[in-house]
Amino acid sequence: MLRCNVIDHLPSYGSLTTLYREFGHDMSNLQKQRVLEVRHWTDTLFSFKATRDPSFRFQNGQFTMMGLEIDGRPLLRAYSLVSANHEENLEFFSIKVANGPLTSRLQHLKVGDEILVGRKPVGTLLLDNLLPGKTLYLLSTGTGLAPFLGVIKDPDVYERYERVVLVHGCRYVAELAYQDLITDELPNNEFFGDMVRDKLVYYPTVTRDQFRNTGRITDLIQSGKLFSDLGLPSFDVLHDRIMLCGSPGMLKDTQKILEDKGFVEGSSSTPGHFVIEKAFVEQ
Ligand code: A2P
Repeated sequence: MLRCNVIDHLPSYGSLTTLYREFGHDMSNLQKQRVLEVRHWTDTLFSFKATRDPSFRFQNGQFTMMGLEIDGRPLLRAYSLVSANHEENLEFFSIKVANGPLTSRLQHLKVGDEILVGRKPVGTLLLDNLLPGKTLYLLSTGTGLAPFLGVIKDPDVYERYERVVLVHGCRYVAELAYQDLITDELPNNEFFGDMVRDKLVYYPTVTRDQFRNTGRITDLIQSGKLFSDLGLPSFDVLHDRIMLCGSPGMLKDTQKILEDKGFVEGSSSTPGHFVIEKAFVEQ
């Protein structure tokens, strides 16, 4: 299974490779934190909250190395931060893979257990990597939702964009995690709930169940159904900015659709019209 925020094989991704090299077996780049809460969404998906060291700083949308100490050595994978940088605790969203070296253990985490968190978060899904625009689309599949949960909790995103559209594509309805957070908690947030109510649009879609929205993100873009359902014009390089995180197939196909429309990928050195999290991996 391929997922965005769990990495089991090294991709050719500069910062990640560097991260792996840096961490090696060196525990000094890691902070020990305690599990505070575990939630099992389905047989294959779970999330958990953990303590956060006050010295641990990150930007919303980033990921870091996270894992367990096994036989005195760190076993780590890259995980996006579900928690925003203004939150007190850390939160991670993961798949469970029976034979996955890390997730086969991680899925049994209990409150009070110890996890390891890398001190150096990285990632490309940053507002600053995009040129100014009017509508920000956050397109995700599966656990690729994780970094966007940090992004939609960032008041800055609502200052910068007139509209923020979060699309989450999954196989099954039960995999549409965090719906309460997106549709209830955030719109009622005491500090920025009014901006969320005003600007955030949530579009969940599934491919293998009956649901109000069905179909792959790529097909919904190509057919125009996404835009007619949202009541918005189709992608326009002048006004729309896009972040992508999810299955490699979705990323590759969506990137092609965007580039055919003249969208240019952004980076920290040169902001563009879209960004992709390239930290992918098989678990
Ligand atoms: P589908 O059910 O048609 O394969 P996965 O669980 O394999 O990571 O997939 C998560 C979601 O991403 C599923 O809804 C899946 O649709 C969809 N998906 C997989 N590959 C692509 C692709 N190349 N383009 C768009 N969506 C995709």
